[in-house]
Amino acid sequence: MSVLRAGLVAGLAATAGLTVILSGCGDVDLRWALPTADELAMADSGPGQRRTPDTASLWRGRIVAVTECVGCHRMYRPGEYTPGQWGALARRMGKRASLSRQQIADLEAYLAEASRYVRAREHPQE
Ligand code: HEC
Repeated sequence: MSVLRAGLVAGLAATAGLTVILSGCGDVDLRWALPTADELAMADSGPGQRRTPDTASLWRGRIVAVTECVGCHRMYRPGEYTPGQWGALARRMGKRASLSRQQIADLEAYLAEASRYVRAREHPQE
């Protein structure tokens, strides 16, 4: 291995270590808190290449979340629950907020997709 290459590898290792230290203390990077529909639509689907809900649904679901889900309590972030957990939560809370079936479906799509996106970035090793 050349000296240049060894230096590059050491530099990458140091950067990776620093990233782990910076992201490993439980603090949430607010840039990922409520990703936009466009961010979600453009994100790499990753392993499994799941079907991505259509962008219009994600867009509407995000608006439902920020307008209808803050009346009774703080804004829960998508990353606080797993994509699977959001399904039941969106339906239970959707009834409380008197949402239509379409709004609940959009909300569920957004929260599940945003959770997947945020969690992949908060815990890249998982
Ligand atoms: C549709 C948007 C929306 C979302 C998403 C949402 N809420 Fe809640 N939410 C509650 C209450 C009360 C709790 C406390 C736990 C419980 O009673 O089930 C709660 C708890 C939660 C929790 C914590 C998990 C849990 O099981 O307790 C989440 C997440 C949540 N709500 C998400 C009243 C509301 C009301 C008031 C009418 C509205 C509107 C509301 N919630 C709208 C929403």
